[in-house]
Amino acid sequence: MKTAIIGLGNIGKQVALNLVAGGQQVIVADHGPTNAQDFARASGGKARALATADAVAEADIIVLAISFDAIKEFLSEYRRKLPAKIIVDPSNPIAPDGKGGFKKTISQDQSSGQLIAALLPPGARLVKAFGTLVAGSLKSGARRTPEPNVLFYASDDRDAGNAVAELIKASGFAPVRIGGIDQSIRIEVFGDLHEFGKLGKLVTAKEAAALV
Ligand SMILES: NC(=O)c1ccc[n+]([C@@H]2O[C@H](COP(=O)([O-])OP(=O)(O)OC[C@H]3O[C@@H](n4cnc5c(N)ncnc54)[C@H](OP(=O)(O)O)[C@@H]3O)[C@@H](O)[C@H]2O)c1
Repeated sequence: MKTAIIGLGNIGKQVALNLVAGGQQVIVADHGPTNAQDFARASGGKARALATADAVAEADIIVLAISFDAIKEFLSEYRRKLPAKIIVDPSNPIAPDGKGGFKKTISQDQSSGQLIAALLPPGARLVKAFGTLVAGSLKSGARRTPEPNVLFYASDDRDAGNAVAELIKASGFAPVRIGGIDQSIRIEVFGDLHEFGKLGKLVTAKEAAALV
């Protein structure tokens, strides 16, 4: 399966770096060509830079490492190209609260995972993943021995979930499925399994077993 990372900001760049470090070939795309081309040049032949439209056409798994609002725009723009694709959503629907912290931009009881799932065309399969840690922890927490740290994920589709679990492994973490997309809120910011939520830290698979 071919994997594309759309958006090379804080999260997308680190996800792509972790995958490349795990020996994966990836496609990278950002708004302007420069960032993606720089990344590809530095990747030792593991990453290929494409325009977003070409990345969408070529990839089987599309990691949308862009803001919640940008994901909504993306899904509208590329809707007809997405059936049969696996869409990976790491988004946390938050904005600065004006007091030095963050607040949710959707209702407290909503998850961006469920809202995004409702916007997908038939045939596209959603996996909520790669959004439970801040970029710095995604970097420092990868490839820990002897017990790897966990990245939680949620999906309604077993095959899509398994494909993303393999990516999580390649990126240096242990994948732990928490359930379907209706459980997304648990692995979004402020959720009980999020680094910026009740969990507040990285955990191993053994520790995660007691939580899931
Ligand atoms: N930052 C974190 O530590 C963290 C942790 C967990 C989850 N997340 C989630 O991960 C997602 C990305 O966050 P981030 O902090 O990495 O954002 P970011 O630093 O702003 O990076 C997003 C990048 O994607 C580009 N982009 C936006 N729409 C695009 C499109 N349609 N095609 C190609 N490139 C596009 C942006 O370009 P422009 O700036 O030109 O629009 C920007 O370079 C968000 O949903 C966030 O909630 C972030």
